Formats: sequence, C-alpha cells, structure tokens
Amino acid sequence: MKTDRQMKQLWFKFFEEHGFKKIQGASIIPENDPTVLFTTAGMHPLVPYLLGEKHPAGNRIYDVQRCIRTSDIDEVGDNSHLTFFEMLGNWYLGDCPKAEMIKLSYEFLTSKDYLGISKDRLAVTVFAGDETAPRDDEAAKAWEEAGVKKENIFYISDNWWALGGGVGPCGPDSEMFLDTGKPICCKECNPACDCGKYLEVWNDVFMQYKVDKAGEKAQKLARPNIDTGMGLERAVVVLNGDKSVYDSGCLKRVIDFINEKAKIKYNDSIEAKKCYRIITDHLRSSTFILGDERGVTPSNLGQGYILRRFIRRSVNCARTIGLEESVLCEIAQMYIDEYGQDYEDIKANGAKVKEELAKEVEKFSKAIEGGHKEFEKVLNGIERHKQFAKEGEIVENIISGNAAFRLYDTFGFPIELTIELAKARGYSVDKEGFDKKFSEHQELSRQASAGQFKGGLADSSEASAYLHTATHIMLAGLRKMFGENVYQKGSNITPERLRFDFNLDHKMTEEELKTLENFVNEAIANAIPVTCEVMSVEQAKTSGALGIFTNKYGQEVKVYTIGDVSKEICGGPHAKNTKDLHHFKIIKEESSSSGVRRIKAILD
Ligand code: ALA
Repeated sequence: MKTDRQMKQLWFKFFEEHGFKKIQGASIIPENDPTVLFTTAGMHPLVPYLLGEKHPAGNRIYDVQRCIRTSDIDEVGDNSHLTFFEMLGNWYLGDCPKAEMIKLSYEFLTSKDYLGISKDRLAVTVFAGDETAPRDDEAAKAWEEAGVKKENIFYISDNWWALGGGVGPCGPDSEMFLDTGKPICCKECNPACDCGKYLEVWNDVFMQYKVDKAGEKAQKLARPNIDTGMGLERAVVVLNGDKSVYDSGCLKRVIDFINEKAKIKYNDSIEAKKCYRIITDHLRSSTFILGDERGVTPSNLGQGYILRRFIRRSVNCARTIGLEESVLCEIAQMYIDEYGQDYEDIKANGAKVKEELAKEVEKFSKAIEGGHKEFEKVLNGIERHKQFAKEGEIVENIISGNAAFRLYDTFGFPIELTIELAKARGYSVDKEGFDKKFSEHQELSRQASAGQFKGGLADSSEASAYLHTATHIMLAGLRKMFGENVYQKGSNITPERLRFDFNLDHKMTEEELKTLENFVNEAIANAIPVTCEVMSVEQAKTSGALGIFTNKYGQEVKVYTIGDVSKEICGGPHAKNTKDLHHFKIIKEESSSSGVRRIKAILD
C-alpha cells in the first residue's frame, strides 16, 4: 500500500539519485499562453525549454506539477476521471537518450526499492510508425534489453503525444502498463484496449518533433527531448489495486467526511455516489484555482467560468444528497490543510479560498431560488395555454426543451432536477428537445474555445517574444507613472497582440495612455540590449527583480534585464534588443475585474 505522499518521495529520491535536478512545479494558470486555460501536463510550463530555450536548472530535471484537465468533466463520478491531478515528470532537454530513459523507467517500475512491479506483469507500448515518423524499433529493443518480455511489447499506431491544441513539441511515446492478470477480452486485446486487463502507469514521450501551426505537418526538432509523465493518483490506485481513485488518501477522507454529514449516504445509489465524487473532485480543483499564486475568482469568462461551473455543480450535488452548503467550505479547508503542506500559495491563500467559495455558493443558491420561480412560471404558462387553447388543440403537460434549457443555462437547474420537479407535479419534460439545445450550445462553446488553440506559447514565434519584451517595458512604465505598488495581474500573448492585466484604481485617461505609449516607444528607440542571467531566487529578490517569489525558494531562476528600464524574473523568450520591437501601440484599455485594468496592445 502506497500513499500519494510516499509516491512523490520515491519519485524525488529516484531522480535525485540519477543526477536529475528538482525544479518547482508551475502555477495552475499558464502565463502568456492563450492555447489552454489551465496547466494540463508537467511539460506544459516547459514548452519554451523543449523548443530550445536554456533551462536555469540544466538539462536533466524532474518535478511534480499540479494540473487541471476539463475535457472529461462529464465523466467525473466514475472510478478514474478527475479534473485535478498531480503529475510526476522528468525531462532530458536538448537530448534524447531513449535507451537510457527506458532503462530508468524499467528500474523505477520494477525495483524493490521503488514500485516493485513484477517484470512479468509489466507491459509496454511503442509507436507503430506512420508517414511522419518510423516505427519505434529502438524503443522496443531498449525495453527488451531492459527486461520486458518480448510478448509484452506492443506496437500501437496511436502512440503519439502532443499538447491539446496539437501545436508545439511532440513525438512518439511509449506507455507502461500493469497487467492485472485478467484474461484477454478478445484476440486483439492489447494495452490500448480499455477492457481493464491493462492499466496505465507512466508515459515516456520522445519529443523529437514540433508542429508550428495547427494542421501543419510535424517537423524534426534540431534539439530533441524526452518528456515523461505519471499521473500520481491514478498510479497509486493501480499499484494498490484499488477500485477507484476515491478509495484512498485525501479523496477518501473527503468522501468519508461527506458521508458523516449528508442525509443520503455514499452507497445508497449510483446517483448518490456520483454526487459525492463530483463534490470531492470539483472542490479540490476549485481550491487549487482560487488558492493559486495567480488566483482567479468566479466569473463568466475563461478560467473564472470553469471555476464557477465546478462550484455550481458541487452545490447542485450537495442539494441532491442533502448536504448543508456550509460543509463545502469545510471540505475546502481539508484540501487547504492537505495541500498547504506542499504548495505555499494554497496555504497562504486559505482564507481567500473559503471566502470566495462561500460568496459563490451563496450567489448560486439565490439563482436557484430564482429558478424555482421561473419553473412555476413555466407551469403557469402551460396551464394558461390549456385555458386558451383553440378548439381541437391538445395541450400536453410537457415542459418544452427550450424552457428546460433556459432553466439549465440561466438558473443552473440540472435537467435531472427539472424532470424530478416536473414529475412530482404531473408534468414531463421534452428531454430530446433539451438534448438538442444542449448540443447546439456545446457546439458553440466548443467553437469558442477552439479559438483558444491558436498560436500561443507553444508557438515560439519571434512575434510572441517581442510582445513579451513589450509587456516588461510597459509594466516598468506603469510603475513609474503610478507607483511601485502596481503589479502584473495576468498576461496573455498571441503572435498578434499582447493582453496585460495590472492593478490600478482608475480608468486610464487618454493622456496617461499616450505617456505610457511614449515610454515604451522611447525604450524601443534607445535600442537597449535585453540580457538574461541565471541566479537564485534570493539573489533575484535582492537585485530588485520583479516577480512572484512564493513557491520558488531555493530555486534557480532567470532574470531578464532591459538596461535600467526593467528587471524581472521570467522564463522568456524575449527579443535580443528593444529595437526589434519597431513601434508599440495601445489598442484598448478596459476594466478586467474590480481594481484591475487590462491593456491590449500591438507592435506595428
Ligand atoms: N506529457 C506526457 C503526458 O502528459 C508525458 O502524458
């Protein structure tokens, strides 16, 4: 039996012993990356380094990274899907010693000092080859030499890993599985099959390629890398032989806690169990989003919208199982206590997490009350329709798909709730009509979020680097104009424009915008070289560099200096000289949230 914490310790020990250097995981909110809303994998914050930037900690590194993936949000409640997870990862940067990594993977998985999986129960997959890249015989040979039985090595055509948007570093991967010993489900059964015979524990990606733009063909990277990732809670479940991710550790403690407090019990029905799990999963994600060093609050946009959805779904589930809403904050406290041990920002922002959570829960409860009123209106409408029906017209007791969707979309009524209330009053719901509206809406949001997947940090084009340099100069200008308590609150760069959030208590005047523009253009005209130094975070702080210092103690960081204009801790990349930026132009200044302004600007 292993716990999450023990697994992390084993990971650290193993890679430390093999000459890798530990780096601090990044924030859950990606910086300067419009491609995704959240950090989705350990490699995500490392994209610039996988594309050739030098990493301050060297070229053999490891970490544990907090991640959120929302693509499977509707699956949460089953045995394995989670929206939040921690990913253990290690990397070779600018170097791809495949056989060496495979040997290390084999050792970590099978050694008695580490995971101790019997070699007979270890199965692996390697890339079967296509027109972009050849069959990965090198990996297959390395696995066999390391000790995996030949019949447990499978060639699979899907073994190719890339970020969600498909842009950025990518390549063939090799996945490692525990063979549970169950009989094969059919003649073709292999580790890619989801019959449950094989359970994945780890993934080694050989990042030898990159894609510059969505839809383009992958090209070979001049400096290939290795990226590996092990989903912590899934690996622990597999190794412990648990049935679900909620069967051990912190998630189990939360389930047990809810079970003490709720009227309907965990094992009462499949629906109840699902509600318990959704609350448990979603509140952990919410705690991490609210408590992050780049913390986000609930809103109708981007990360704030996802956060709102997590909280609202939790409230609905709490109502379904008869759980008092105040318990949701107690659950958040359990997560703050657990993860505050590993994440400084979660610990430091504990009070804020609970305050924002309570606010959103209350707001949503009020909306639900409004929903009940709306529901009555819908029923009245049907009754009125009956009264005034034309002769021969039959009005049935059916709530239309449109009305059910409005209750869902505007008032947060899950369809199950509408059906249940309707049934109690002798009505039914046009579920098909609802489903149709629902998928139309989903298609719209899918299209809207597809817009998120263009360019971005994965697209390390010069344009992005120049805009990045412009944000540093602009922040320096803002601090000069409005004082040293102005800080960056968010940054998002596409190859076309920069978007920068900062705290300021008023709307900027035309004159102030002009002064800021002139400040940046003057720095451009002065052709100042942009330099980069690597130093400890303590040194960076003493040198007066700006940046987020929490979670980074004892780490080496990069400090970018632009003459005497700006000095900031930053991962890069940047322009070599300010003259490359040509001309800076502000195109919009607006409010982003209370006390935070947003500037959009371009280089022309
Ligand atoms: N980046 C790889 C993954 O997320 C390791 O599976």
